[in-house]
Formats: sequence, structure tokens, C-alpha cells
Amino acid sequence: MRATPGYIIAGKYSADQTASTMAPRVIEQKTAIRETLIDSSNPIAYIFHDLISGLTENIQTCCQKNRIAVSLNDKAPCSGKKIMKKTVLITGANRGIGLEFVRQYALSDWRVIACCRNPGSADALSRLAAQYPNQISIYRLDVANHSHIEQLAHTLSGDAIDLLINNAGVYPPESGDAFGMTDYEAWAHTFAVNTMAPLKMAEAFLQPIAGSNLKTIITITSKMGSIADNRGGGSYIYRSSKAGVNIVMKSLSIDLNPKQITVVLLHPGWVRTDMGGPSGLISTEQSVTGMRRVIDNLKFEDSGKFYAFDGQIVPW
Ligand SMILES: NC(=O)c1ccc[n+]([C@@H]2O[C@H](COP(=O)([O-])OP(=O)(O)OC[C@H]3O[C@@H](n4cnc5c(N)ncnc54)[C@H](OP(=O)(O)O)[C@@H]3O)[C@@H](O)[C@H]2O)c1
Repeated sequence: MRATPGYIIAGKYSADQTASTMAPRVIEQKTAIRETLIDSSNPIAYIFHDLISGLTENIQTCCQKNRIAVSLNDKAPCSGKKIMKKTVLITGANRGIGLEFVRQYALSDWRVIACCRNPGSADALSRLAAQYPNQISIYRLDVANHSHIEQLAHTLSGDAIDLLINNAGVYPPESGDAFGMTDYEAWAHTFAVNTMAPLKMAEAFLQPIAGSNLKTIITITSKMGSIADNRGGGSYIYRSSKAGVNIVMKSLSIDLNPKQITVVLLHPGWVRTDMGGPSGLISTEQSVTGMRRVIDNLKFEDSGKFYAFDGQIVPW
């Protein structure tokens, strides 16, 4: 198909097609390419923003990798920078706060990599994924298992991850978290999930995060990890695991400064989930709406800070 000057031929081709065997579509206006490529029925969803704004470079190069056939009749204006839907990776995505993060980001047209320990029994998450089939993908991930983390990082190595949300967390049974009754095995496990896994995730996914537009790592911690705020005592295991992840993320924010990665800790509030219980003060929707607002307003200078869901700074 020959294009008239100013016209663009574009389309997605599958693994068993080539650019030359696909049936191309003629997009009559340069601006229409945006709508075509981010059409919700089109899983690629890349926006050639630079193409629209008229920068120069060969668009074929940037399309080839993504199996998008685009040909122009004249010099293709594209910087090669691909602007795609923003991508968030969420751990512990099958229930509670994690599930609500998935719902809200999918609703806002993000691509969501939803990780959970048992996809087979993640019914609510599967229903959500069926509602947003082009946006939500579910992956098995036990964050206490470092080879799971490494495998997933390998599987997703070609992707850019704008936002990593370390949400998965455990609260040990109360019976093993009081003075004189400490369950040291539960403590080790809680540390593996709440304290060590967020760092392991950052180590494993550093490249896709560093290569993204937003370059942001969020860890859901708790005010219970604030030393300044501890007036109630007890909860040695949970408190220390969250205080531990706070200092881990603070160090990470300093170490990742040269890569311009923003690392922030968020307290979600006391939320009505399995962990927070029915007496929690806010719903998952209120908590996640607030945390997303904080995330949306983050600047690089905020790296290393500890915020609550309402935007207040939490004392260390
Ligand atoms: N709710 C609150 O009031 C509150 C307050 C402060 C901080 N937080 C923090 O907010 C985060 C989310 O809590 P939530 O209230 O939504 O808790 P939740 O309802 O108990 O959900 C916890 C999530 O973490 C997942 N998880 C636990 N261990 C995991 C592992 N080894 N690998 C992968 N996923 C794992 C769970 O998956 P499974 O279903 O497979 O167990 C579940 O998806 C946690 O970090 C928590 O500490 C909550």
C-alpha cells in the first residue's frame, strides 16, 4: 500500500505475521495514530507521541521491536522514544489494599502487573483481570521466595516498570507477638516478607524501573514502624519489621539517587482489610485514593520520605 504524503500506515502484527504480510490500515491524520495505538482492544498501546509532535528519527526502528508495522511515505518523524501506558507492579495484589491498587490503576488506564502467591485461588483479582483484559496481567509471586522474584524479573526483563508497589505484608499472630511469648520463627518470616522482600524486589527490578519514565518505588509500611509514634509498646515483630523496612528504603533512596529513582514509604492508614480488621478507620478505596494522590504529586526531591495516605509526613 502506498501512502499519500502526510499519511501513516500502521497496525499490529502477531508472532506468525511479518510487517509485510499484515493488512495495514491507513491513518489519515497523524494525530489519529495515538487513538489507534491506544485503542483498548489493542494490547500494544504504545503512543508515538514524538511522531505526533513531529520530532525526527526512523519510526521503523522503534516499532520493529514491538511488532508494530508503521510506514511513512516520507522521513519518519520519531525520536525512537516510546511512550506507553504507565506500568505498575503490585505485590500482594489479590486482596485488601493491593487489590484496590490494582482496581484503581486499571481504571486509570495503567497497565498493571498484579502479583500474588496463588493466582489459582485469587478469585477477586481474576474477576478484575477479566474486566480489564488488556491491562491487568497476573503473575505468581511469593515475595519470601527469592528465586520467584528473580524468575519474574527475568520474565519481565523487556518491560519498563514505572512504579513498583511493595505492598505484600504479614502481621504475625498476636499470640506470638507479646513479651514473654515471642514466636521467633514468625519473626524471621515477618522480616522476610515485610523487610527483606521490598529490597530484593528493588534489586531484581532495578533495570526496568530505571528504564521507565516515572522511576518510582513505593513501599507500604506502617506508622507502627515509627519509633517516634510508639506509645503503645508491644507488637515487637510487626513494629520492628516495619521500622526495619523504613531504614532499608531510606538507604535505598540514597543509593538510587544517581539513577534518579524516587523511593518513598507510605503508611496506608488503619484500613478495613483482613489485616486491619473491621474496626479500621478507612476503607481500602479511601486509603488507596489518598496514597495515589501522594504518589501522583511526588517529586524526585521527596525521595527518602515517609508519608501517610493523607499526605502528612510521618515522623521516623
Ligand atoms: N490494613 C491496615 O490497617 C494496614 C496498616 C498499616 C500498614 N498496612 C500494610 O499494608 C499492606 C497491605 O496490607 P492489607 O491490609 O491489605 O493486608 P491483607 O489484607 O492481609 O493482605 C496482605 C496481602 O499480602 C500478601 N502476602 C502476604 N505474604 C506474602 C508473600 N510471602 N508473598 C506474596 N504476597 C504475600 C497476601 O497474600 P495471600 O492472600 O496469599 O496471603 C495479601 O495479598 C501490608 O504491607 C501491611 O503491613 C496495613
